[in-house]
Amino acid sequence: MGLNLTQKILKDHLVEGELNVGSEIGIKIDQTLTQDSTGTMAYLQLEAMEIDQVKTKKSVAYIDHNMLQQSFENADDHKYIQTVAHKHGVYFSKPGNGICHQVHLERFGVPGETLLGSDSHTPTNGGIGMIAIGAGGLDVAVAMGGGTYFINMPKVVNVHLTGQLKPFVTAKDIILEVLRRLTVKGGVGRVIEYTGEGIRSLSVPERATITNMGAELGATTSIFPSDDITKEFLKAQDRESDWKELLPDTDATYDEVVEINLDELEPLVALPHSPDAVEKVSEVAGIKVDQVAIGSCTNSSYMDLMKVAKILKGKTVHKDVSLVIAPGSKQVLNMIAENGALGDIIASGARILESGCGPCIGMGQAPANNAVSLRTFNRNFKGRCGTTSAGVYLLSPETAAISAITGELTDPRAVEGNIEVPMPERFLINDNLIVDPSTNPEEVEVVKGPNIKPFPLNEALKETVEGKALIKVEDNITTDHIMPSNASLLPYRSNIPHLANYCLTPCDPEFPSRAKENNGGMVIGGDNYGQGSSREHAALAPLYLGIKAVIVKSFARIHKANLINSGILPLTFVNVDDYDKIDVDDVLEIDNAIDQVKNGEVIVTNKTKNETYTTSIDLTEKEKNIILVGGKINFIKKQNA
Ligand code: F3S
Repeated sequence: MGLNLTQKILKDHLVEGELNVGSEIGIKIDQTLTQDSTGTMAYLQLEAMEIDQVKTKKSVAYIDHNMLQQSFENADDHKYIQTVAHKHGVYFSKPGNGICHQVHLERFGVPGETLLGSDSHTPTNGGIGMIAIGAGGLDVAVAMGGGTYFINMPKVVNVHLTGQLKPFVTAKDIILEVLRRLTVKGGVGRVIEYTGEGIRSLSVPERATITNMGAELGATTSIFPSDDITKEFLKAQDRESDWKELLPDTDATYDEVVEINLDELEPLVALPHSPDAVEKVSEVAGIKVDQVAIGSCTNSSYMDLMKVAKILKGKTVHKDVSLVIAPGSKQVLNMIAENGALGDIIASGARILESGCGPCIGMGQAPANNAVSLRTFNRNFKGRCGTTSAGVYLLSPETAAISAITGELTDPRAVEGNIEVPMPERFLINDNLIVDPSTNPEEVEVVKGPNIKPFPLNEALKETVEGKALIKVEDNITTDHIMPSNASLLPYRSNIPHLANYCLTPCDPEFPSRAKENNGGMVIGGDNYGQGSSREHAALAPLYLGIKAVIVKSFARIHKANLINSGILPLTFVNVDDYDKIDVDDVLEIDNAIDQVKNGEVIVTNKTKNETYTTSIDLTEKEKNIILVGGKINFIKKQNA
């Protein structure tokens, strides 16, 4: 039986397991990327693992998220990332070089290789034929150290494209159509693989727009074949030698199939506040617009901005609209500056932002209250833009540009003339904002400003685990409760000792000081403890405070995994009524902890009340070994020793 492209690349990289849907597989990672908001922690973890030189084919550290340097914290982070990258064999993309996914596509992505990135839109590089997956910083650090990356084998969904896009209908409209049909949950546990004659007319940057927003489907990743179009792109980037043909077998099979006829598509828009609230532009046109933002890792390629420039040329941005444009990379900005398109954009009244994430991550350009903001970005959740009452609409650069002129949401088919832009035969190549890894790493000093604190490490599990119940919380505690992440705490993501002072404070302001006074202890929780985000800091702050076990009615899956990675025992009450019997300050003890963890059942003794509670610890063999040595970093260190 033939293989699809996803199966082929995964098979080539398979280290453990078999390619059966749902079963765990371990794959080798060829490349990694980090960005600045997740990167500091990933490199602190890499240092804690005592890895001298990364073992990947290529790893790149980007600075693109937080470019505002209002105080020393971000500048310190950037300096730390630059020096730690230089020392450990990682390329460093300086601030201003562009958004990680755009630059990676231009200068680093290689068809057929695997890429793990500490950013959820890492699948962008599926546009060039990579298996590119977004993951937590620790997973990326482990991959840099040569460790295997584990996932459950996803289903492979074939999105089969027929026909050809009509003028002013774009790659963005294709992915919005996929979102409309599958919804923001439709990609969970799946890889989306694009095939069909319709892909022949899509350039690599257009394919990358589609794979980028596969993240909004919840997909593991999305991928296009590597064909002549991929070759043409790599040749124009002076990287033809990185190309190889990669197609699914002609008799490949898929778990699910979605058919889209490109001839039938129209310009689409995702309405506030979800990327799958998709309507035809023609049906909702006429909404008054306050702000238009063009850029982000979804739609800021050279071709995107050239089309925008053609629409804006000789026109004026509507008096009630603020148009901001952030080119995706220095390459894009430099090219449109050299060919005069930037002049046309500026002349129209647009404001040019530096090449970075900018407004997409809420770094500037928050809209006014109740404003309508049209954005070429990938996410429009309430408040992400910085203004909770604003409504963000997601659409193509063409629809955005024409609407900036008219002042209202406008169907781009109203534009007269042809704005098609061919792929340049050669992109402008100038890598002077990329710093190569050092050839003398032993001489490189890693610079850690006062905001960079060492990564907290746990100890191997002891025979007896003892501690007070330091806090007792209700059901549905989120990672935001455990480790709040507001604008004032964001600059401290590389400073766990500082963050720990805010751990669980929304539930109990005294918790951090009580934990410190008692040299740590245990946390008692209700159902669905740790729901919300995958925030690693929600396990690292408790680790820093000496939390040895978290005993709850039930865990949210990812938070439990993060506790395991930190070497904190995740225990679940067998009898949920036992939750009611424990009070704050009760002294709890686990005897014979190592054997009990191995057996999967852990008896907790309440020495204050002379009671015992049965808890379960449900771990895979690998997770047991991680807990026994005190967390994943110790586990990797041991493996590498
Ligand atoms: Fe940056 Fe927004 Fe993409 S934050 S990486 S441009 S999703």
